[in-house]
Amino acid sequence: MRKILGLSIYVIVQILFLPLGVIGAFIIFYKQMYISKRLGVSSTAIEIINGRWTMDKFGLKKDSATVKLFNVLPNTTVIGQWFALFPLYLLKQITGENLIYPIFKEAPDATLANLVTSRTVFFDKILKRSFKKSEQFVVMGAGFDTRCYGNLVKDTLKLYEMDKKQTQELKKNNLQKANIDASNVHFVDVDFSTESWSEKLIAAGYDKNKTTTFLWEGVTLYLTEKDVSKTLSEIQQNAATGSIIVADFYSLDFVKGKLVPGKKALEMTDEELGFGIDFEGNSSKELESLIESTNMKLGQVYFMGSKTKKGTWMAVSEILI
Ligand SMILES: C[S@@+](CC[C@H](N)C(=O)[O-])C[C@H]1O[C@@H](n2cnc3c(N)ncnc32)[C@H](O)[C@@H]1O
Repeated sequence: MRKILGLSIYVIVQILFLPLGVIGAFIIFYKQMYISKRLGVSSTAIEIINGRWTMDKFGLKKDSATVKLFNVLPNTTVIGQWFALFPLYLLKQITGENLIYPIFKEAPDATLANLVTSRTVFFDKILKRSFKKSEQFVVMGAGFDTRCYGNLVKDTLKLYEMDKKQTQELKKNNLQKANIDASNVHFVDVDFSTESWSEKLIAAGYDKNKTTTFLWEGVTLYLTEKDVSKTLSEIQQNAATGSIIVADFYSLDFVKGKLVPGKKALEMTDEELGFGIDFEGNSSKELESLIESTNMKLGQVYFMGSKTKKGTWMAVSEILI
């Protein structure tokens, strides 16, 4: 009964809200693409913080650091998000459930609409387990990720974040503006494609002999195959046994833009899609051969979409060093 009532009210409100929804979507797009381009920072990292803000507001993950950072960034928009999402929020308030969006789905059934929600949950699960035996945490291509500022990390972990200079500068300035304590995070600006990131990381205090968790979320798809292999090898050569990498790898169809529109828009901020894996045949074999070619082993893997019509489109992977 509650569901029927909620859905009926939702349909009416959604129709009335349509003009505001369109304005909201326009503001989100403008801020994410045009302001990011003007600032010379990643727009795809904004896509993710938009999703994590939504997860917080819709009760999928309490994430106060994300909300605080989101509120002050110049390329996000609180009003735009509410214009776009308010009818869905109302639906959630009436029914007590997220019936349409955002939704968490287990890996085999996850579709692209669940990308940020399901991906975030699976990464968190692997990270939580890994932190029990890690002494260092390195976030590679950190963007506006706030895991270093939430309660997932324990006090004894030494924290590092790496990203391109301009994106990292914008984050640092806005963490300060948002009153988020970043004093125990070591920031290392780097371009994985053109620099030796391991030298810079070691210069910032990283210890090769300590067990480390490397988080490489939402980054491999923007790199070339050569840079992905090179980065994996560089981690393997500079990490203690028992360390782990948590990374996501995307399907060839995904990076060719066959599954999502908007591939062209990524050119605006120089974030064209690059590396993908052929998941069409035996998904785990392809992934295994990539990881084993760098002398590491696959641990737990979440094959996203494996039971859907389109098949596996991404794999959240634990890599054991
Ligand atoms: C989709 S965002 C993901 C951000 C973050 N990991 C998260 O999940 O919220 C991709 C990030 O990778 C970074 N990145 C992409 N290519 C890079 C490169 N060659 N060197 C350093 N960082 C890179 C971008 O600047 C951006 O912050």
